[in-house]
Amino acid sequence: MDARALKRDAARAALGHVEEGMKLGIGTGSTAEEFVRLLAERVAAGLSIIGVPTSERTAALCAELGVPLSTLEETPELDLTVDGADELDTALNLVKGGGGALLREKIVAAASARMIVIADRSKLVETLGAYPLPIEVNPFGLRATALAVAKAANRIGLTGEVTLRKAGDAPFVTDGGHFILDASFGRIPDTRALSNALHAVPGVVEHGLFLGMADAAMIAGADGVEVLLAAR
Ligand code: A5P
Repeated sequence: MDARALKRDAARAALGHVEEGMKLGIGTGSTAEEFVRLLAERVAAGLSIIGVPTSERTAALCAELGVPLSTLEETPELDLTVDGADELDTALNLVKGGGGALLREKIVAAASARMIVIADRSKLVETLGAYPLPIEVNPFGLRATALAVAKAANRIGLTGEVTLRKAGDAPFVTDGGHFILDASFGRIPDTRALSNALHAVPGVVEHGLFLGMADAAMIAGADGVEVLLAAR
């Protein structure tokens, strides 16, 4: 079974939770794109929803496929966000931001009553951290912020390279005009401690740890879609 088919299976399972009239947060990435494609088919068949996209890329795809869009200014409270993840654990804590959209993704997820994660089984891990943690930072004082991030992580026992994400020769720039540092700390035993430590660094705008935000995950494997629920 190819990777795209698995992503589509996870997306289809999440689509089962979308109801008429819902205000939806719409995620970013290749799995979220499968969700947008399936959602667009339902919209074309008469489903009435309004979507708030988590990136310009998702907004463009929604516009192309006829998914009606709003903004958090017009629609500040959402019923459900459906989004992918770079990694998740069985407690449904996530690493996100591989596509560079983590800030808007986190703002949209926080504005939603529920969040469903869609992923193939390769994203499910015992302990987060094999995937480098994306950290969105203000371009001002970049080197000082990168050093401060490394020191903050050191203080809680984590070490590893902190590298500036590039797009060709130039820094990758997020939809919000920020840069991304990718931090290869390896396994993160205490995600809350790292979250707090990173939030204490002034140049850090947001990081890609989504802790206690997801309510359910649709995990697609060759043998079907497994539904994981958050223990809350
Ligand atoms: C985008 O910034 C990310 O958070 C994505 O949700 C994440 O990278 C998953 O993307 P894929 O579905 O393409 O793996």
